[in-house]
Amino acid sequence: MNRIRVGLAGCGSVSEHYLANLQQCPHAEVVAVCDIVESRYRARMAEFGVGEGFPSLGEMLQGAEFDLLLNTTSMPSHYPLNREALLAGKHVYGEKPFADTYAHGLELLELARAKGLHLWGAPNVVTSPQFRFMAEALADGKIGKVHAAHACYGHSGPSWGPWFYKEGGGSLHDLGVYNVTTLTGLLGPAKSVIALMGTAVAQRVIERETVDVRADDNAMLLLDHGGAVFSHIQCGFVYRSANEDRTIELIAPHGAMNMLGWDWSPKGVQIRLECEMEWQTRCVASQGYSWQGGLAYAAECMVENKPCLMTPEHALHVVEIMEGARTSAKTGQRVELKSRFAWPIVAKGQ
Ligand SMILES: NC(=O)c1ccc[n+]([C@@H]2O[C@H](COP(=O)([O-])OP(=O)(O)OC[C@H]3O[C@@H](n4cnc5c(N)ncnc54)[C@H](O)[C@@H]3O)[C@@H](O)[C@H]2O)c1
Repeated sequence: MNRIRVGLAGCGSVSEHYLANLQQCPHAEVVAVCDIVESRYRARMAEFGVGEGFPSLGEMLQGAEFDLLLNTTSMPSHYPLNREALLAGKHVYGEKPFADTYAHGLELLELARAKGLHLWGAPNVVTSPQFRFMAEALADGKIGKVHAAHACYGHSGPSWGPWFYKEGGGSLHDLGVYNVTTLTGLLGPAKSVIALMGTAVAQRVIERETVDVRADDNAMLLLDHGGAVFSHIQCGFVYRSANEDRTIELIAPHGAMNMLGWDWSPKGVQIRLECEMEWQTRCVASQGYSWQGGLAYAAECMVENKPCLMTPEHALHVVEIMEGARTSAKTGQRVELKSRFAWPIVAKGQ
């Protein structure tokens, strides 16, 4: 297999970015698209020269020959469509979160394993050169053992997609998911989570629909990574992050390190050792990384039979953390986590 045939489901906002990215990808080709709104799949067919379009995944599975489902539908459709595609023998790359609950995510993972299929869940943040730089600096012990980390991501909320504010949406699934992936990627799987989550804006008007907001728009998580390593993640649709230039901070005995820019679109890494007066800025080049390049990366791994830094076990762990956070916020209890993934993701000298 030297070119993966892709069927894309969900022709909304994000699909445009993936389709443009995949036009430059030598390892994948989008052969079909589908959306429950006909005008949307027809528009993407015309814009990107996609040969076939369908009003549902079921019809795309029946009518088109493809190897992999790229699922860019709204969040409530992720689990059912990913499941349908795996059952039909297709590899899956799902936008985040790839499942709504841990049980559903585990079911997908076991289904993929049983059928010998690939399963990926966005985001692809662990594939950025800045993530690699930070992971290697930690492995080298440059700043010492990190026991405290903080991540913050917020904006005023999407102006489209009423579903962002309904059951299954929310700021943790949409924004915090990036930071949960990055911090567990850097510090290791979390053993437990404690969270405060709430809905600050009770009603929003989105695409002329008045939405009674059911999802969180403000969340704060504390993760216990074991060995007294703690991290904090703050995300919301109710503020713009005060410091967009520095979104993730790692603090250690011999120095500190910050990610510059968002972890899904990093601009560099700042590092300062205890003996230095000034921050040093490193790793400013994107080296071909982009957040919408996750499928192109996965296709390259498939075609060239290379190991992939993104794993379904890590994506599942992130789903479990987010579900655990919701439970913790409801009950006021700390929630223990079961899932693990192979870590470190980037080993020293790898
Ligand atoms: N928009 C962004 O900038 C962005 C960036 C990164 C990730 N994402 C993620 O991508 C996903 C989609 O986001 P979006 O902003 O494109 O949303 P959107 O609302 O613009 O698009 C979703 C599309 O999915 C379609 N859809 C819903 N259920 C379907 C089903 N069962 N079968 C076929 N089509 C279906 C809808 O009709 C809609 O066209 C979300 O998980 C989001 O978090 C979005």
